[in-house]
Amino acid sequence: MLQGQRVTLVPIEREHLPNYVRWFADREVLEYFGPYLPLNLAQEEKWYELMLEDETTVAFAVEMEGQHIGGCGFTSINHRHQSAEAGLFIGEKSLWNMGLGQDILTTLLHYGFDYLNFHRIYLRVFAENERAIRAYEKVGFEHEGRFREAEWRHGRRHDLLFMSILRHEWKRESSRKE
Ligand SMILES: CC(C)(COP(=O)(O)OP(=O)(O)OC[C@H]1O[C@@H](n2cnc3c(N)ncnc32)[C@H](O)[C@@H]1OP(=O)(O)O)[C@@H](O)C(=O)NCCC(=O)NCCS
Repeated sequence: MLQGQRVTLVPIEREHLPNYVRWFADREVLEYFGPYLPLNLAQEEKWYELMLEDETTVAFAVEMEGQHIGGCGFTSINHRHQSAEAGLFIGEKSLWNMGLGQDILTTLLHYGFDYLNFHRIYLRVFAENERAIRAYEKVGFEHEGRFREAEWRHGRRHDLLFMSILRHEWKRESSRKE
């Protein structure tokens, strides 16, 4: 269990899976994130089984006061390069814009740098996802570049931004906040 200021990251259990099905059927949640089609429970269960066997992925359920509110984790984990891609979402829309995304990401970075010994953690974000970009900047992610018209989503092309944070930048960020 990983404790943030308000959120807790816990291993995903089967009981969590129906919430993902519900959230991934919500167009607002899916605007800049997630699958291109709603998933049913059987597909979620299949993803879960594969994830448990996949050594390049670590996924957590995010809880707050015992309520499951979203998910986060690392994919493309590469221990030779000590790098991974981070991802996160809050499925409960009423909880957006309350600083919880920054809390989740800070907790995930702590796990990545201090437990998994990563050197570089990166992420991809749609250029129009201003709330997410602001949250990532505030946690200490630097902009690396823009992949122009890289993805097709909701009937049009979107630019994709790459952002990352390195271990020494994280150390600087965490000591600045203490
Ligand atoms: C992206 C997400 C995880 C961010 O979490 P969150 O809890 O809503 O974000 P936070 O409150 O921690 O931080 C958002 C910041 O952006 C600001 N913000 C909100 N809307 C904004 C906008 N349109 N433009 C600029 N800044 C904006 C907020 O004021 C806040 O900054 P502040 O702390 O200085 O007030 C969450 O909104 C989410 O899950 N969205 C849907 C799925 C998604 O897009 N996932 C990310 C895929 S890359």
